[in-house]
Amino acid sequence: MNESRPSQTPTVLSDYRPYPFLLHRTRLAFDLDPKATKIRAELEFERRDNGSLVLDIGQGVDLRSLSIDGAQPDASQWRREGETLTIDAPNGAFTLITECVIDPSANTACEGLYLSNGMFCTQCEAEGFRHITPYPDRPDVMAPFEVTIRSDLPVLLSNGNPVTQAEGHAVWNDPWPKPAYLFALVAGDLRAVSGDFTTQSGKQVDLNIWVRPGDEPRAGYALESLIRSMKWDEDVYGREYDLDVFNIVAVDDFNMGAMENKGLNIFNSKLVLASPETATDADYERIEGVIGHEYFHNWTGNRITCRDWFQLCLKEGLTVFRDQQFTSDMRSPAVKRIEDVLALRSRQFREDQGPLAHPVRPESYIEINNFYTATVYEKGAELIGMLKRLVGDDGYRKALNLYFDRHDGDAATIEDWLTVFEDATGRDLTQFKRWYTDAGTPVLTMQEDWDGTGRLTLRFSQQTPPTPGQTDKPPRVIPIAVGLISPNGDEVVPTTVLEMTAAEQEFTFDGLATRPVVSALRGFSAPVVLKRNLDASGRAFLLAHDTDSFARWEAGRQLARDTLVAMVAGAEPDREYLGAVGQLLADGAADPAFLALCLRLPPEEEIAVAIADADDIPDPDAIHAAREKLATQIATTHEDTLRAIYRENAVAGTYRPDAESAGKRSLRLAALDLLNRVDGGKAAQDLYRSADNMTERSAALSRLIAVGQADEALTSFYKDFKDVRLVVDKWFMLQLAFARPEDAVAVARDLAAHPDFDWKNPNRFRALIGGLTENHAGFHAADGSGYDFLAEWLLRMDSVNPQIAARMSSAFESWTRYDNLRQERAKAALDRILDAPDLSRNLSEMVTRLREAA
Ligand code: TRP
Ligand code: ZN
Repeated sequence: MNESRPSQTPTVLSDYRPYPFLLHRTRLAFDLDPKATKIRAELEFERRDNGSLVLDIGQGVDLRSLSIDGAQPDASQWRREGETLTIDAPNGAFTLITECVIDPSANTACEGLYLSNGMFCTQCEAEGFRHITPYPDRPDVMAPFEVTIRSDLPVLLSNGNPVTQAEGHAVWNDPWPKPAYLFALVAGDLRAVSGDFTTQSGKQVDLNIWVRPGDEPRAGYALESLIRSMKWDEDVYGREYDLDVFNIVAVDDFNMGAMENKGLNIFNSKLVLASPETATDADYERIEGVIGHEYFHNWTGNRITCRDWFQLCLKEGLTVFRDQQFTSDMRSPAVKRIEDVLALRSRQFREDQGPLAHPVRPESYIEINNFYTATVYEKGAELIGMLKRLVGDDGYRKALNLYFDRHDGDAATIEDWLTVFEDATGRDLTQFKRWYTDAGTPVLTMQEDWDGTGRLTLRFSQQTPPTPGQTDKPPRVIPIAVGLISPNGDEVVPTTVLEMTAAEQEFTFDGLATRPVVSALRGFSAPVVLKRNLDASGRAFLLAHDTDSFARWEAGRQLARDTLVAMVAGAEPDREYLGAVGQLLADGAADPAFLALCLRLPPEEEIAVAIADADDIPDPDAIHAAREKLATQIATTHEDTLRAIYRENAVAGTYRPDAESAGKRSLRLAALDLLNRVDGGKAAQDLYRSADNMTERSAALSRLIAVGQADEALTSFYKDFKDVRLVVDKWFMLQLAFARPEDAVAVARDLAAHPDFDWKNPNRFRALIGGLTENHAGFHAADGSGYDFLAEWLLRMDSVNPQIAARMSSAFESWTRYDNLRQERAKAALDRILDAPDLSRNLSEMVTRLREAA
């Protein structure tokens, strides 16, 4: 341990070399103790190439003994340096045995083996296993695992099938070879909510959702979601589960959403626990989606894993795409698509257009945990959607079947994935591959030319702005779904996919009786920014008539955004827009969830992006004021209709989280949001008092916070829920996200001093810090106090949990967008972080990249 500063050397994709040893079997024995857990590892290696045996080993691992085939090597035959253990290994087959001791109670990083409320649990992706025992901690080294756990705790879990479950010890056997990042162990006083599932070939699987005593009533929805996921993967992808048991454990201290460890998924408890009183409709939808996501990893991630971490999108992009399809099948495809595009634009476009931009498959990294990003996940999923559009549903099915056949048991690459599509469909994907290797969001410009005699020409040009380290951006293949609508509202050309492959390209449509209105980029057929000249009445027309629900919503969104941008510059609310909203509200046939999405105004951040895009400097306060003004104007113009909507969409009877009831509630609450500007919080007060579910209660509370009338409600909310951690998180978050901007930083400082601000708990930290950074004008306060507050807490968090500090630092990614004064303050805050001693590799990489934006 002669290296105190973590390694800053980048890992580079082209440096990949296969591991020179095969690992045939891994046997682990744990003697659990909070302060001194002993781990014995027995690894059966076989040499297949020259070189030493190099194992990864974390700084906190106390290595007590080491032997090869029963003999201790002498000191000259092995050395420990930094984070590696190098051993002169024999030829042929040999068994390495190590014994070491670690201190889970001192592990606050939630990586490796740690404690959460007295429960032992693990998180090994991406490189956490090395903090448990010395090991080739890389995804292309796969082995079957046999795990023995000794502990007095009542429930002892690991991957695979149970072999022995006795007082004080348990043995688990996982027959499927897996990399170390999929290892998991849990031990604690847990209760199971159980069920079973019979697979399509008739095998019965025991299902358990493990929670803390008392939480059982909130685990039912997760179990139902799991059963739906298992059925869906059989029906849609023909993928069956492959062990006798499937365990899910809910953990309160967890760095991300959830983890797909083989047969033993570990979840952030906020993605498992739900009851009508404590969880919102959005929480229920996310639980179903993430349970699906982790389950689907069993094939896309576990049975077929990644060769190295550069290939992360191979499992994440595909699995996100699969979970999106699942949610779309369980709920409303139109609504799901719009939600996904909203998330993509607000997180991934922002990343792709700022200092943290990187390709879906990066080529180098310093800290891999910094690359679990919206680009790898969400843009990665868009690439799968584009591939599917390009090769068609049949081609996609054939390709996926070939992928599972050919690569089952492999640690694969993006090249393998694309080759499968080429072999299955005969299509050349050379140009498509640029979507994986080139960062940045292409800007697609569309021009229309009507010749007056029946021919419409669409001229497209594509251009991708430079990103850090990449200036040259050759054209990519872009599938552009278009439809044509005649002025009377009839669709004259149904959805057609145009394949653009050049920097500039045109497509013609002949035999048209009149000049049609073009509905472009239907279904958001590619992750690009589309620029076109369409006036407000053209957009209002599409909002009223488009048959593609995404394009319809998009037209309304663009109209709202244009109106808001003009208002920030001093214009009055656009009449055309207000009229279009009226027409929309009068559409009795529309799906309430869809209407709710159309009614929601673009968030302030989105307006700031639009302003910066037009080469202006966004003023957060003016943006906030304009948005408030437009909302008020919509409410006064359409008050009666909004009141009717609010009344008519009350859902009677017991709360149910299904898509239909959730849709009605979301429309009702969108109406409340607007009405709140004209009734001084009256409807929100009434709803807060009468609500019997968290969806309505938290929405009412948010509205009251926004108008500064929440004192009483906040007190009673806290009193009612102070013992339910996940709800206390909401209490912190809402007070910041909806605070009036001028109060936000002061509220954040107050809340940071609250006795319940248990900041080492990742969810609590995210609630407070994330709540503030969500508040656009509040976080970007002109005096820089938001930046100072964030920097202060990132530094404090960094020595405790570097992953969380690094993740939350991305709130700085748009800092160069604002005026000089704000930039100076942000820069000073970033420099303060960089100057701090002992920065983690995680945070220092992030802040260095953020700082280079200047
Ligand atoms: N593989 C997980 C998923 O997407 C995410 C993950 C990666 C993760 N690293 C993690 C989760 C660290 C928790 C902690 O499903
Ligand atoms: Zn995943």
